[in-house]
Order: sequence, then structure tokens, then C-alpha cells
Amino acid sequence: MQAQIIDGNRIASQIKEELRDRLTKLHFAGHSPGLAVVLVGEDPASKVYVSMKARECKELGILSKQLDLPETVSEEELLKNIDYIQADPKVHGILVQMPLPPHISEAKVMERIEPDKDVDGFHPVNIGRMLMGAPGILPCTPHGIQELLIRSGNSPEGKDVVVVGRSNIVGKPIAAILMQKAKDANATVTICHSGTRDLAQHTKQADVLIAAMGRPQFIKADMVKEGVVVIDVGMNRVEDPKSEKGYRLVGDVDYEAVSRKAKAITPVPGGVGPMTRAMLMANTVRAAEIAFEKSQAKKH
Ligand code: GUN
Repeated sequence: MQAQIIDGNRIASQIKEELRDRLTKLHFAGHSPGLAVVLVGEDPASKVYVSMKARECKELGILSKQLDLPETVSEEELLKNIDYIQADPKVHGILVQMPLPPHISEAKVMERIEPDKDVDGFHPVNIGRMLMGAPGILPCTPHGIQELLIRSGNSPEGKDVVVVGRSNIVGKPIAAILMQKAKDANATVTICHSGTRDLAQHTKQADVLIAAMGRPQFIKADMVKEGVVVIDVGMNRVEDPKSEKGYRLVGDVDYEAVSRKAKAITPVPGGVGPMTRAMLMANTVRAAEIAFEKSQAKKH
């Protein structure tokens, strides 16, 4: 049986189209959304991600600004720049591309961003709200994964979901989102990681398997059950002399083999990546609406 290929590009376009009315309202109110992106250093993958984010903004008519800082920038200097950028009323959302060089504390950077402008959803206040199931800004990749599942007809409700990877950006928050007692969540979630004793024993139980540990093609066909829904968050560059760039992108899942057993699977690229960017656009629109609502409340 051929697996359903979950088309992240198609679903991301749908989500962006749904933002258009809200964007028009903001534009007419003179409150066009603005996103500021900070890139530290020269990491080639980060550069690509940041330029793709700017392209999405342009497509939707969202103002975007980018600040490039050298790898050697001090933590203090970066924090000062964050303060300066987010004091600008035209900036409704700000994000600092991760990872950061080792001399800069990612936690300190995440805490410096105002929760209402934190379009990454990485601030402890937003993470706390997410855990409690309270309204707030959700992190883009995990929220995008939830949307992929729902909109592809693979609701996580009541399912056994196994997440491989416990990062702050994907593993931990996707577990927090899917375990909520809420519509489109309500899953039984297991998190596996490098300390898990028998990984395959867990992954074989999964109705939905979310691979997010950053190891190329690590999940093999004998580690999954027949009919599994697979979300591959991996974005690994592997050498490929046949490719023009000298490398190609592969996920954390052995796509060819696993797709023969799966009910549905996301491709890499074209699965989770476009969803992360679509949710970033949605969060930026939301952040602009929050700022607009606050400014209106002050007037009355
Ligand atoms: N690095 C990998 N994914 C992300 C993301 O969603 N946001 C930021 N800021 N950095 C990342």
C-alpha cells in the first residue's frame, strides 16, 4: 500500500491564505504587522532559514527587517540590540535564529524578548501558558505539526504518539501541545531520547511517530508498526556529489523504507519546514493584533 504523502507546502499555503482577511484589517487600521529577525554568525542552514522567512513575509505583505550580527558579538551586545529592536512600535514580532554561538546563553536571549512579541513562543511565559493550555503564542514547529496532523485527516485524538527528541524547540513543546485535554490534542504521549534504553520497543507502539532528534535517516522500517503516521522534523545535510550543491537534505526517517509501511508520512523537504514558516506568519499576525488591541484599549 502506498502511504499518504502529507503535503506541507499545500497545507502551509492554506494557512497563509486564511491570514489574508486579518492582514487586510490590520493594514486598513494603519497597523501593518512587522517582523524583526536577528541572525548571529554565518551558519549556512540558518542563513537559508532566515531568508525563507523574509520571503514569506514579502509574499503576505508583512514588513520584515533583518539584523545580522557577527559570530563574535557579545551576549551583552546582542541583548542590547534586542531591547532596541523591540522598542520600535513597528516591530510586532521579533525572533533570534537558533542555534547561537556557545558563548551566548540561548535561555537569556529567549527571556529578553517581550512575551507578546515572542513570535517563536520560546519565552518561559509562553511556554508556561502552553503547558497550562492557556491562550498565548505557540512555538511554530510544534504548532505546525499539530496542524499537519489535523488538516491531513490524521487527528491525534486518543492516539499513542511517540516523540523522539526532547529539544526545547520541538520535542518538549509538541508533547505539551498534544497531551492537552483539548480538541485536536488528547493524545497519549511518550518522549524518547538519547537516554532511552530500548528505543525501538517504544517507536513500534506509535500510532503517530514524530522524529525530531537530528540524526539522518535514523528511524528504520523495523522500528515502526504497519499503518503508522510519521512526522519527520529532521533537516540534515548529507554529502551528495551528484547534487549541484554537493549535499542533499534528508530527514530523521529512512523515507523510502518507512513509507512502505506507513499510513501517512511527511516528506523532507516539503513537510514540516513550510509549516514552521506558516505558523511564524500566523504568530506575527497575532502579535500585531495584540498590539493593536492594546493600543485601542489605551484610547478608550
Ligand atoms: N532554529 C530552528 N528552528 C527554529 C525556530 O523555529 N526558531 C528559531 N528562532 N530558531 C530556530
